[in-house]
Amino acid sequence: MHRLQQHTPCLALVATATILLLSGCWREDVSHTDTTSSTQESTYLGRDACLACHQAEFDAHAGSHHDLAMQPATAETVLGDFDNAEFVYFGVVSRFFTRDGNFYIKTDSPDGGLREYRVEYTFGVDPLQQYLVALPGGRLQALPLCWDTRPRAEGGQRWFHLYPDEAILPGDELHWTGRNQNWNFSCAECHSTNLHKGYDLSTDTFHTTWSEVDVSCEACHGPGSGHVAWAEEAGEGANKADALDAGLVINLPDEDGGKWRFLPGAPTAVRSTPRSVRTEVEMCARCHSLRAALTDEYQHGAPILDSHRVSLLTAPEYFPDGQVLEEDYVYGSFLQSRMYAAGVTCTDCHDPHTAQLRATGDALCFQCHQPTVFGVESHSRHPSAGGVDSAGRS
Ligand code: HEC
Ligand code: HEC
Ligand code: HEC
Ligand code: HEC
Ligand code: HEC
Ligand code: HEC
Repeated sequence: MHRLQQHTPCLALVATATILLLSGCWREDVSHTDTTSSTQESTYLGRDACLACHQAEFDAHAGSHHDLAMQPATAETVLGDFDNAEFVYFGVVSRFFTRDGNFYIKTDSPDGGLREYRVEYTFGVDPLQQYLVALPGGRLQALPLCWDTRPRAEGGQRWFHLYPDEAILPGDELHWTGRNQNWNFSCAECHSTNLHKGYDLSTDTFHTTWSEVDVSCEACHGPGSGHVAWAEEAGEGANKADALDAGLVINLPDEDGGKWRFLPGAPTAVRSTPRSVRTEVEMCARCHSLRAALTDEYQHGAPILDSHRVSLLTAPEYFPDGQVLEEDYVYGSFLQSRMYAAGVTCTDCHDPHTAQLRATGDALCFQCHQPTVFGVESHSRHPSAGGVDSAGRS
């Protein structure tokens, strides 16, 4: 579904990595913790390690699209019709069926003949779901045969092909068996937590690992062992004010106490304290931008450009004026907006845990724009109506 840039092979950003290592994960002030921990790297624990102390965030995240970004294929997670449904694409008849509780797709193989593939994972939930099947060499591949999950009344509940108009045959670089549809290489970093591609050049195989298969707590908050150690050490009534980072590797909640408020007569709210850090937006941008990864070694809290080359706002990926055209490239356009310049951040509008908007309809915008002055139509430069995103995306 995504137009992806070529990933540059893992260039070790030696200088950057060294600086990050030297600066370490914690600051000296975290004196509650064992002194050895100041030299230890934090490790990933998984969301269950957060539950005991953060039930609210845990519950909010459960069932969010981040939580559902990738799931093992089961009767609960597979949304498509696998009741011997068939789909014809340029003469190739694919069939979707179940056997012994597993889900299978019979479709064209690398050599062109039809072959059965067991569905290992689902990918995405709305407005479509894709399916991952295994090929040799530790590869998972995303099939272009997608299930439209929208209600029937909106044209959904049907199989369709990602490239309906071109006959994509084996050998074509867009064929599902090729590199562009290879999950390990083209998709995994953004849909899972703590992902390492594990590509071995000499054998041309992948040994891909992850700590959680979907976008979980530590995808955003970074490895949590240092924080849990801090919390357990600090005990009952622990307060972040006691220790600057509380063992976390990235500071996501705003620490400057800035609040949006209207000055008398002003049409737009201003932030009480000008924003000085962009940590959050840069963290979201890792997955919500059109970019190529420069390294496998992502560091939470480091500037996005240390690890990724973010695409310029060029056609055909963006509208000529820089607005979002393709689906997950929010960041690039947002950077250009006056809202970003004024210090607006993703979570002013989106709750990061549910991944839902903080308010519905105009109420979202009225947090900062006076209803009397504000008119969506006059602001949006593109004709389609409906919700308008960060950059006036409509
Ligand atoms: C043993 C209890 C405990 C566990 C387990 C725990 N935390 Fe915390 N967490 C705390 C405490 C205490 C605070 C500080 C709360 C405060 O200052 O109000 C905190 C604060 C936070 C904050 C806010 C930090 C800030 O800058 O304001 C984040 C984010 C966070 N935890 C994430 C996590 C994640 C992710 C996990 C799982 C990997 C986790 N926590 C596990 C106790 C815990
Ligand atoms: C590790 C990658 C990753 C990070 C980091 C990340 N996201 Fe996402 N986000 C995704 C993926 C993948 C999806 C789509 C999941 C799906 O639909 O299956 C998504 C979906 C969303 C959606 C759409 C939810 C919906 O209901 O359709 C919103 C909004 C969103 N993310 C906001 C954010 C914000 C805000 C941040 C930063 C605070 C963030 N994301 C950080 C990967 C990420
Ligand atoms: C740069 C990070 C990134 C990469 C790489 C990526 N995705 Fe996504 N994906 C996202 C985000 C972000 C969303 C949510 C977009 C939205 O809701 O607008 C998403 C959503 C989806 C969805 C849900 C349906 C939808 O359109 O919202 C599917 C299916 C999907 N991606 C499949 C894939 C496949 C297959 C690949 C590899 C060929 C891939 N993605 C690679 C970030 C990524
Ligand atoms: C998509 C990214 C993302 C994911 C996934 C995520 N968080 Fe957060 N979290 C954030 C951001 C950004 C903030 C700060 C902004 C805010 O609170 O709205 C935050 C804030 C927090 C806080 C501090 C809340 C407060 O009121 O100060 C805690 C605790 C926390 N997260 C725990 C978790 C836990 C536990 C999970 C997993 C169940 C989780 N988060 C998953 C991005 C994320
Ligand atoms: C000024 C408010 C605002 C800001 C800031 C904002 N967004 Fe959005 N975003 C929206 C609105 C409104 C929508 C449209 C939702 C809809 O159509 O249901 C949206 C849609 C999205 C979607 C697609 C969700 C879907 O349902 O398909 C993603 C992903 C997303 N935003 C991520 C981000 C990220 C990442 C950032 C920060 C870089 C960000 N947004 C900043 C308001 C905002
Ligand atoms: C958290 C506060 C906040 C929220 C919420 C918010 N805005 Fe803004 N918006 C601003 C600020 C601040 C500016 C910059 C005003 C200036 O520079 O004069 C701005 C500017 C704009 C602009 C000017 C063009 C540009 O480049 O950014 C548009 C359009 C806009 N907002 C639309 C919206 C829409 C639509 C929503 C609801 C989806 C929304 N805003 C929600 C704070 C906000």
